[in-house]
Amino acid sequence: MTSEDKNRAQFATRLGIIATTVGSAVGLGNIWRFPYEAGNNGGGAFLICYLLCIILLGIPVLCAEFAIGRTSRSNIFGAFHQLKASGKWHWMGYIGILASILILSFYSVVAGWTMEYMYQSIVGRLNFTEIDAFHNQFASFSSSNWRPILWTVLFLLCNYIIVVRGVKKGIEKMSNLMMPALFILLIIFCINSLMMPKAHEGLRFLFTPDFSKITPKVIVSALGQAFFSLSLGLGTMMTYGSYFSKDTRIVRSATITASLDTLVAILAGIIIFPAVFSFGMSPVQGPALVFEVLPSIFAQMPGAQIWSILFFFLLFLASLTSTISMSEVSIAFFTEEKKMSRAKASTINLIIVLCGGVLSALSFGYFSDKSFLGLCRLDFFSFFDFTSSNVLLPLGGMLISIFAGWILERSRLKDTLTNNGRIGVSTFPLLVFCLKYVAPLGIFLIFLFGIGFF
Ligand code: PHE
Repeated sequence: MTSEDKNRAQFATRLGIIATTVGSAVGLGNIWRFPYEAGNNGGGAFLICYLLCIILLGIPVLCAEFAIGRTSRSNIFGAFHQLKASGKWHWMGYIGILASILILSFYSVVAGWTMEYMYQSIVGRLNFTEIDAFHNQFASFSSSNWRPILWTVLFLLCNYIIVVRGVKKGIEKMSNLMMPALFILLIIFCINSLMMPKAHEGLRFLFTPDFSKITPKVIVSALGQAFFSLSLGLGTMMTYGSYFSKDTRIVRSATITASLDTLVAILAGIIIFPAVFSFGMSPVQGPALVFEVLPSIFAQMPGAQIWSILFFFLLFLASLTSTISMSEVSIAFFTEEKKMSRAKASTINLIIVLCGGVLSALSFGYFSDKSFLGLCRLDFFSFFDFTSSNVLLPLGGMLISIFAGWILERSRLKDTLTNNGRIGVSTFPLLVFCLKYVAPLGIFLIFLFGIGFF
């Protein structure tokens, strides 16, 4: 072990590495955001763009983040400094912090909804027979001015208690258990959905692309979803890469993480869309989609209450493992760069995100009929989501790929990807090509396309 290896905390086991990176990647992004984005953007047309973004842009950028993290043994701020990048590369860190705060602000609201649904399942109040009742239930809950805030605050406090103690080993253990449990549950729900009367319509919607539906908006949304789902572009995966041991195989870990993450998103789609069509609902529901469809699915299963409690509990844990990894971006900045104590860093992060969380939660209630100077609706929730996922994360990813492809010494990149020559990585030239050309140009062109340049 080199001295740098000894100084930094590392993941205990190989399974722990995968479970923790998958723990960050899998969360509301897969189970809540993917179905609603796919529903809003034409199903199959969205899926194909999403898969292309994951393969051509996501996996290379994920490898780059892991590589930069491990070779510098540092967070996103320190990494560029360590790697002696001149110029303004440390600004990447500010993009990361801003993105992590914006995401935490709306993510914690949705995680709060999950807690509300877990609570409602426990007290047995989620047992309607009419689909409309689930719709009304969500509408009245999300537009209330205090309940969603209460849950958002509770969720952020849970997150705070964990991050303030920095319990890496605990998170690793929790992810080891929670991820397989969530996976098994999703498979059971998939089988259930596939037996629904109009399952084939749902599957056709998700898996048969209608190419005429591929618009700039669909492509930009797919790009944002790919980066959001893989936790890319803000330094989360860089920080996790810095905890990898010298034997961790980066390309393999990145491929497994991306594959499992995508699999979970597709499973969520297979659960949701057959049910949407069988219940005669529209797939274009926005953020409410999953919270209306899932309880309707559970209500029709034998042992509804148990499934519902178990599912929302696991989704709550999956959200926590994601928010812990997001929080790490700003906490690493305050503790490692500004030399603050972990307690102070976590508290500052909590206060900022609480403000953002309250604004997001109120977007469905108090702010829903308010506008900014009569120009646009005061929808902080969508604004935070759009700016972080569709702008900041792809921008961060583009800069990371430029750094890895053009600035980082090629030998250093090769050494870290091949574990100092101890393993062969046959895809290295392809990866370099993607990092140099495909990812930066691809993301740039999608941006131009998105703002209507073509
Ligand atoms: N990937 C997480 C999810 O799908 C969200 C996330 C984004 C986590 C960015 C960390 C950083 O839920």
